[in-house]
Amino acid sequence: MSGRDAEHQQWWRHAVTYEVYVRSFADADGDGVGDLPGLTARLPHLRDLGVDALWITPFYRSPQRDHGYDVADYTDVDPLFGTLDDADALVARAHELDLRVIVDLVPNHTSSEHPWFRAALEAGPGSPERARYLFREGRGADGSLPPNNWRSVFGGAAWTRVPDGQWYLHLFDSSQPDLDWRNPEVGDMFESVLRFWLDRGVDGFRIDVAHGLVKEEGLRDQVVPEGSEPGSAAPTGGSMIERTLRDEPMWDQPEVHEVYRRWRRVLDEYAGPRGDRILVAEAWTQTPESMARFVRPDEMHQAFNFSWLLAPWSAEAFAAVVTGTLEAVGPVGGSPTWVLSNHDVIRHPTRYGGGPRGLARARAATLTMLALPGSAYLYQGEELGLEEVDVAPEHRTDPSWFRTGEAGRDGCRVPLPWDGDAAPYGFGPGTGQPWLPQPAGWGPRSVAAQQADPGSTLAFYRAALAARRTFATTAGESVTDLRVEGAVLSFRRGPVTVVLNCGSEAVPLPPGEVLASSAPAGTVLSRDLPADCAVWLRDPAAR
Ligand code: GLC
Repeated sequence: MSGRDAEHQQWWRHAVTYEVYVRSFADADGDGVGDLPGLTARLPHLRDLGVDALWITPFYRSPQRDHGYDVADYTDVDPLFGTLDDADALVARAHELDLRVIVDLVPNHTSSEHPWFRAALEAGPGSPERARYLFREGRGADGSLPPNNWRSVFGGAAWTRVPDGQWYLHLFDSSQPDLDWRNPEVGDMFESVLRFWLDRGVDGFRIDVAHGLVKEEGLRDQVVPEGSEPGSAAPTGGSMIERTLRDEPMWDQPEVHEVYRRWRRVLDEYAGPRGDRILVAEAWTQTPESMARFVRPDEMHQAFNFSWLLAPWSAEAFAAVVTGTLEAVGPVGGSPTWVLSNHDVIRHPTRYGGGPRGLARARAATLTMLALPGSAYLYQGEELGLEEVDVAPEHRTDPSWFRTGEAGRDGCRVPLPWDGDAAPYGFGPGTGQPWLPQPAGWGPRSVAAQQADPGSTLAFYRAALAARRTFATTAGESVTDLRVEGAVLSFRRGPVTVVLNCGSEAVPLPPGEVLASSAPAGTVLSRDLPADCAVWLRDPAAR
């Protein structure tokens, strides 16, 4: 295979993928919830932005208790989002625009409305229907205590009791019963789901909770240090993935990798003229090494690198993540990934302090990540510099809010502003607020407003993605000369030197032609790099 053919085949190695949170991207039918026709109509925005692929959050039939991550039918589109024909039209239009389409697969649990779970409830203890899930007897004299001490990621016990006295496991909401992946029927069902969507032309799958499918046999108690509580932290502020080393019989069991080896064989059958079909893991692993196990050559193509997202604003912390990631992923031949925001965490400008400084830092971290080897994942709205919205309690919808009383994830999921000066800012037809209210004063953040402004964050993203293509997709898999000097991180990637200033003072810049910078438009970077700013400098000799 020529270098060019290999590059085409393995498009994912350097792809920039844009996450579409389908409820909040664009609403065609005016019900206040985003949908597939709305997304299809807005695809030119993604082409103009310069991304290679989009990942779409679940649009399958679902009671929407966790906004689609509770699937009742894996092979149909929820009427809220459209029809199967709309899904086909979306894939076709994306391909016309040279965008690849990754869909979300939720294999850890179904919805409690899934026919399998309904049948399990009806069939009763000991039945083959119950054996597709994790039903157990309770503890205590009358079985009134949960079978073990596991906690739901969304707060509270991970077990719910049914009227006949048995309990079922749900690592998330009680409306999301966990499947028993040790039952071969489950694997067979999901293989047919993969084939269903591959036959419809999708280019890959983002695998939800990829580290969770198989639980330690016996479902023993989680061992917790004296004085602390069992659990998996609630998904606020990034803590869903911010876990310290601890005993976790519910996560990251060795047998889970057998599942992905089987899936990889299926996907490899489908590699075709558009190149590989891919698997990307959402796996909240404890170390870069455990993340790398998911991307061994016969498993997934990629896994989200959450350590980048979790790093504080610090040159040392960023350097440690770059080094740790490349050291872990390199030996297994995987491709590293980089991500700063998604639909489960606080938007990165807000995490970095909010306001102009938060945005400056967010742009700088983004520019730095876009120069690194491997592929990057963007979350809708970050190209507009959107911040976390403080959603009023009466509007919150996240199941973790209902289970814990903590703010939850609604604030990063507010529908996008496309144009105009008042809600719904072109998100959909009409004049009403969408499913999560948009803040007043979002007009200048809209796509239309930023499109017209060469100094906007949208213009910055477009310029950065265009500049990235000039070197970052061809400059190999390594970085060199990685240094931390004071609050400044620098490294070289091929012909480009990247400098990120995490300090509070301007610092002198090395020589080189400015290829891209995160500084506000109009800033001339000749001798100094301002605080909270990153730059790509092309070595004049490398031209
Ligand atoms: C993943 C999704 C999250 C969802 C959870 C349960 O973490 O990203 O949004 O709530 O899985 O499916």
